[in-house]
Amino acid sequence: MKLTLNVWRQPSQKAKGFFVTYEANDVSEEMSFLEMLDVVNEAIIAKGDMPIAFDHDCREGICGMCGFMINGVAHGPRRGTTVCQLHMRHFEDGDIITIEPWRAKSFPVLRDLVTDRSAFDRIIQAGGFVSVNTGGCPDGNAIPVPKTEAEPAMDAAACIGCGACVAACKNASAMLFVSAKVSHLAHLPQGRAERERRALAMVRQMDAEGFGNCTVTGSCEAVCPKEISLDFIAKLNREYGKAVLKGDAAAHAQAGG
Ligand code: SF4
Ligand code: FES
Repeated sequence: MKLTLNVWRQPSQKAKGFFVTYEANDVSEEMSFLEMLDVVNEAIIAKGDMPIAFDHDCREGICGMCGFMINGVAHGPRRGTTVCQLHMRHFEDGDIITIEPWRAKSFPVLRDLVTDRSAFDRIIQAGGFVSVNTGGCPDGNAIPVPKTEAEPAMDAAACIGCGACVAACKNASAMLFVSAKVSHLAHLPQGRAERERRALAMVRQMDAEGFGNCTVTGSCEAVCPKEISLDFIAKLNREYGKAVLKGDAAAHAQAGG
C-alpha cells in the first residue's frame, strides 16, 4: 500500500517544530507501524537527511518506550495497542496519516517524536516502591495474597508508563498512571506498610511536575494500551484522602488536641 505521512520534525527541544510530508510506498500490511517508519527512515538516510527520531525498545508492547499521536489519537486507532504492536493492516491504501509527539508541558519534546518522560521516573522515585531491608529474598509464598486483592494488583501492575494517558488528557493529567502505581502496591500486603506515605509523596511529586487535574473525562482509559481502568483513580483518591486524614489526626494528637 501507499501512504502519505505528515510527520512532526523538531531538531531539538529549543528548536521550532514543523510538519514534513513523506510518501511511503510499498508498505506491507504485515509491518508494524514502527517497521513502516524504519523503512521510511532508510529512504531518508539514503538521501543524506536526518531520520525521524522515535522512542522504542521491546517492540512487544511491554516496555512503555514507544508512543506518539497517530491522527490525533495516542498510540493510534486500535484500542489496547501500543504503536509497536499496531500493524499496517489496520490502515487503508492511500491513507494520509499525521504523526506527532505527545503534547504535554511535563513531557517536553526532545527531538521529532521523542519526548522527555523523566517526570514519570521522578514520581516513581518519590514513592512507587516497597522498602525492604537488605538480606535474603523472602519466600514468594510467605505472605498469602487473596485472589480478590491479587487480581486488581496485577491489573494495575500492567501499566507500562508510556504516557499516553497524559497525552490524551485535555489537562495533561497523570492520574491514571499514578493511580495504577499506587493501587498496585496498596492492594498487596507488602505495599500496605507505606501506603499513606506513598500516596502523599507520589501525588505531591505529580503536582510538582506540572501535570494537570483529573476531571474524569475517561480519555486516558480510552487510549491506554494496557486498558488501565478509571476505577484505579477512585482508589487513588481514597488512598490519598485516608493518608491526609491520618496525617491531620497525627498532627492534632502531637499538638495535644
Ligand atoms: S496508565 Fe496506561 S496510558 Fe498511562 S502510562 Fe500506564 S499504560 Fe500508559
Ligand atoms: S517498544 Fe516497548 S512497548 Fe512499544
